[in-house]
Amino acid sequence: MKANSTERVHYDHYVPRDYRVHEFTYDDPFVSDSFEEVNNALEELADQGLAHYGHTQTDFARKRLNAIDRVGNPATRALIDRLPTFNDWLDLVPTAAALDSLYDPSKETLANGKPLHPLLGDWFRNITDGRGIRSRAAVVGELLTDESVRHDRQVEWLSLASGAAQPIIATARNLTSEHGVTPRMTLVDKDQEALRLAEEYAATAGLAGSLETMNMNILRLRGMTRSDTGRRMHDFASNALSRTLRQKHLPAGQFDVVDAVGLVEYLKADDWPYTYGNVIKTKTKLAGARTFLQNSYELVRPGGILVIGNMLKSHPQLAFTLDVIQWPHIKPRSIEEMVQIFDDAQLDGELDVYCPDDGAYAIYQLRKPEE
Ligand SMILES: C[S@@+](CC[C@H](N)C(=O)[O-])C[C@H]1O[C@@H](n2cnc3c(N)ncnc32)[C@H](O)[C@@H]1O
Repeated sequence: MKANSTERVHYDHYVPRDYRVHEFTYDDPFVSDSFEEVNNALEELADQGLAHYGHTQTDFARKRLNAIDRVGNPATRALIDRLPTFNDWLDLVPTAAALDSLYDPSKETLANGKPLHPLLGDWFRNITDGRGIRSRAAVVGELLTDESVRHDRQVEWLSLASGAAQPIIATARNLTSEHGVTPRMTLVDKDQEALRLAEEYAATAGLAGSLETMNMNILRLRGMTRSDTGRRMHDFASNALSRTLRQKHLPAGQFDVVDAVGLVEYLKADDWPYTYGNVIKTKTKLAGARTFLQNSYELVRPGGILVIGNMLKSHPQLAFTLDVIQWPHIKPRSIEEMVQIFDDAQLDGELDVYCPDDGAYAIYQLRKPEE
């Protein structure tokens, strides 16, 4: 299939990228009998949220305050009243800990140990955001499995913005039990608590010996393969964090798989100055989507793959995600917009796009040419 965007940047010798789109059918084991009931109620709330904000512009959530408005927004307030423990879950949004209950809505507790009420779990089983997180994990699982079984050596996986790495660890566990293949995993995130959860999950799966975690800022402009001087880190999040992170770096061209699913949809295409509520505002730029993709691609071994995801603009319940949950900073993009970003980043390699049937996300696999 050929991309059909008309607003392309034209380079010398520029050749429009070919890419393949694959539909992906996923039989979600968590969907329950309440599917229609939950989704009908959701539509009503989404209309209410939409009426409150006026519209779901794709850039709208990014401009919103970091704090979720639990009082002024009538739809969010109604959902808090309706679903016990939803308010506690909202405290976790937008961190990786919030995803934990979407990956496994049958759990009795949230990632922070507070209760997860079965009524809330039932919503997470049936709403598109829950199904989309799980189907995107299923795609990641298939891509990582295919990539790992085709080598007769131990493969190296790198997960950037890994969060608690549920899909990575589940895939490694299946690979080990079904194929006798255990990858070496490196997980990188700036959230130490998410990495701690990942270590706990890996230990439970018997994979602790194959896992390394790194607490590092992956959005520095100079990339991830050089030690940071510290100066660029100065304004990021806190001085304490910058001191700990200063020396970390990753080797170039050594990972068979680099996964960065769950991050690009928070990034503007261009590099951007970091702001954190009204607490920190700096002119120091962090990597936007284009630079981040270039920096991530540098880590991929020739012949290996980079896997990323982005919420789709055509997400069927986008108004609920942006106007009721008020998930902050999300930047949904069409496949064509994503292909434009790959093109603008001038990354060579074969592009495959996987589209699960719930319509929430597209997952992009870029294969680096062999040298
Ligand atoms: C939505 S979670 C995705 C987690 C995981 N990849 C998944 O798909 O389940 C996004 C993660 O990006 C991490 N993150 C955001 N900015 C980062 C940065 N500058 N450096 C490292 N990690 C970052 C967050 O801490 C969070 O764990």
